[in-house]
Amino acid sequence: MKKILFAASEGVPFIKTGGLADVIGSLPKCIDKKYFDVRIIMPKYACISQKMKDMMQYKFHFYMDFHWKQEYVGVFEAEVEGITYYFIDNESLFGEATPYSRDPYLDILKFTYFSKAVLSTLPIIDFRPDIIHCHDWQTGLIPVYLNERFHQGDFFKGIKSIMTIHNLKFQGKWDIPSMKEITGLPSYFFAPDKLEAYKDANILKGGIVFSNAITTVSSTYANEIMTEFYGEGLDGLLCARQNDVRGIVNGIDYDEFDPETDRYLEYHYNPVNFRKEKIKNKRALQEQLGLEQDDKKFMIGIVSRLTDQKGFDLIAHVMDELCHDNVQIVILGTGDEKYENMFRHFDWKYHGKVSANIFYSEEISHKIYASCDAFLMPSLFEPCGLSQLIALRYGTVPIVRETGGLKDTVEPYNEFENSGTGFSFTNYNAHEMLASIRYAESVYYNKKREWNKLIDRGMATDFSWKVSAKKYQEMYDWLIDR
Ligand code: ADP
Ligand code: GLC
Repeated sequence: MKKILFAASEGVPFIKTGGLADVIGSLPKCIDKKYFDVRIIMPKYACISQKMKDMMQYKFHFYMDFHWKQEYVGVFEAEVEGITYYFIDNESLFGEATPYSRDPYLDILKFTYFSKAVLSTLPIIDFRPDIIHCHDWQTGLIPVYLNERFHQGDFFKGIKSIMTIHNLKFQGKWDIPSMKEITGLPSYFFAPDKLEAYKDANILKGGIVFSNAITTVSSTYANEIMTEFYGEGLDGLLCARQNDVRGIVNGIDYDEFDPETDRYLEYHYNPVNFRKEKIKNKRALQEQLGLEQDDKKFMIGIVSRLTDQKGFDLIAHVMDELCHDNVQIVILGTGDEKYENMFRHFDWKYHGKVSANIFYSEEISHKIYASCDAFLMPSLFEPCGLSQLIALRYGTVPIVRETGGLKDTVEPYNEFENSGTGFSFTNYNAHEMLASIRYAESVYYNKKREWNKLIDRGMATDFSWKVSAKKYQEMYDWLIDR
């Protein structure tokens, strides 16, 4: 049995701020249990719900050298759907109201501690993984520590590591003198061939340099990050390691996201009966959110972190124009204040037409995916994107910019060939986006049969983990035998 440990900063069903948590909660379940024992380790944040904390069992604790102190490390365990989760407990570091702090220094501290604690915990729980699969910068120091101090003892000898980049924008950068103190790593690690980048210490860079393989979450993004525009300063390094970089597109949990059984929906439907049944969800949502009751109105949904990454400045630019069309717009999201306030403003200005829901809600998100006619995601960059995959599964037609995973998963509508699953545009330009939305509107209003065929094709796509989980397995096998 090959042993794999996922190390990550969030994971469903315990804690989620974005798509990373969906991946951590769903991919391990789809790795073949006959050959692989996949376990997960993550922080035990104080903000995890009590219900989920009640599922955890205290195992043991110890003290670890960290930042000039002996720091407490508690270890908890839980089992969900046959998968073992470990949790690292430290209330002073993981005690905030959200997993990530407003103060980036606190994040550097807590995730350096976490990375070190993960490795220190393994011999005690007697789980020696063949591979530690690290996700995003928060776990970037694990391959570095594996290389530095932990490679001496027999236990750690030969453990391989993988660094998966879910978002290159976030790298965990801090000044070198402080990072030396926090990490305890010797000075020579802070050189340009290791952790140093543009005069700072860069944790993700360390992960990329020291891991045995690097992956990201779509093949287009894998190519994009080797260019200056998308490379976030690390394109040179990624080009240098291009033989070790793979793009494996994400899947979604087809049990969790299924319009036929979804526990948040009052009205269920499937690829056969969506023409009659999906609309019932739209009616219900219009009523729940105080939108004008109109079956026919073209309803556009957005469920997102409200950040620049997601293309909200394009929407800001043409929102007034768009609101003069025969449409309804439903937004669910939290994030940058400027976008939260922008949507609140449009909700006030176009009441009954625009509904801004500035909070986090699983329930409303599922209702939006099920109720809307189209789903808008005009991202500036998008490593993979799960929302458009959920939209496809729910027969809601995605309108996306052709970047990263959006390009790999949404096939543009071609009215001459009767093909495609959504609408897309190339340039990061507000009026190009508006033209795509209006093209979608015109098909919806004037060619209803074509629109329904678009939905047919979208619902027939398969973005479960079936294919991609196999690709991870192949990589695990290859790396272990190497
Ligand atoms: P990212 O990871 O960049 O935020 P993804 O598209 O990969 O983008 O994943 C976003 C996930 O977070 C989706 O499952 C989406 O439904 C969910 N999500 C985002 N914002 C909210 C919100 N306000 N309420 C509920 N779910 C949300
Ligand atoms: C990141 C990316 C998103 C991706 C998710 C899961 O948050 O922004 O595109 O789908 O990670 O890999």
